[in-house]
Amino acid sequence: MINAAIFASGEGSNAENLINYFKNDSRIKIKLVITNKDDAGVIARAEKHKKTVQIISKEALHSYTDQIIDFLKTEKIDLIILAGFLLKIPEKLVKAFPEKIVNIHPSLLPLYGGSGMYGMNVHKAVINNKEKQSGITVHFVNEEYDKGKIILQEKVNLSEDETPQSLATKIHELEYKYYPLAVERLL
Ligand code: GRF
Repeated sequence: MINAAIFASGEGSNAENLINYFKNDSRIKIKLVITNKDDAGVIARAEKHKKTVQIISKEALHSYTDQIIDFLKTEKIDLIILAGFLLKIPEKLVKAFPEKIVNIHPSLLPLYGGSGMYGMNVHKAVINNKEKQSGITVHFVNEEYDKGKIILQEKVNLSEDETPQSLATKIHELEYKYYPLAVERLL
């Protein structure tokens, strides 16, 4: 049985989708949810599913990385799943979990990745550049933002009148369908 922790900063709809998808799976247990924001929507979603929630601020993530690694090891966490987690993972944490941290990015990396490319910024940039397609990328996390080995990509076509909001909806649908499948490949 693999123990997983989900890290999320926002609404947490992907986090909840993963919790639901794996709730009766004997191969993986989502043990913890970690967020850096005390008002993140993910907190209520995780508590609804009786998951332990830990709030770790941006400052703590960097100043107390050793203690956080110890905590994750004590909890026997084998896999870290980032689901809309907006902070850069400290190098020490990446090194402590080699190829055991996965992320989902709402574009076809290497396109529209890197610093500042998150959430609506990604979809706005895609539309401004008149792209015909966008998509999602599930990848391992390494020391460089959005540059780890790709596990899965799925594409979606943009319509003529696509808006950042309508694209975000399309991307979320892809994420709900494929993020659990990508995680499943790692079990
Ligand atoms: C998702 O689109 C994810 O790809 C991105 O942030 C969004 C998180 O949405 N990194 P939610 O918090 O899971 O609803």
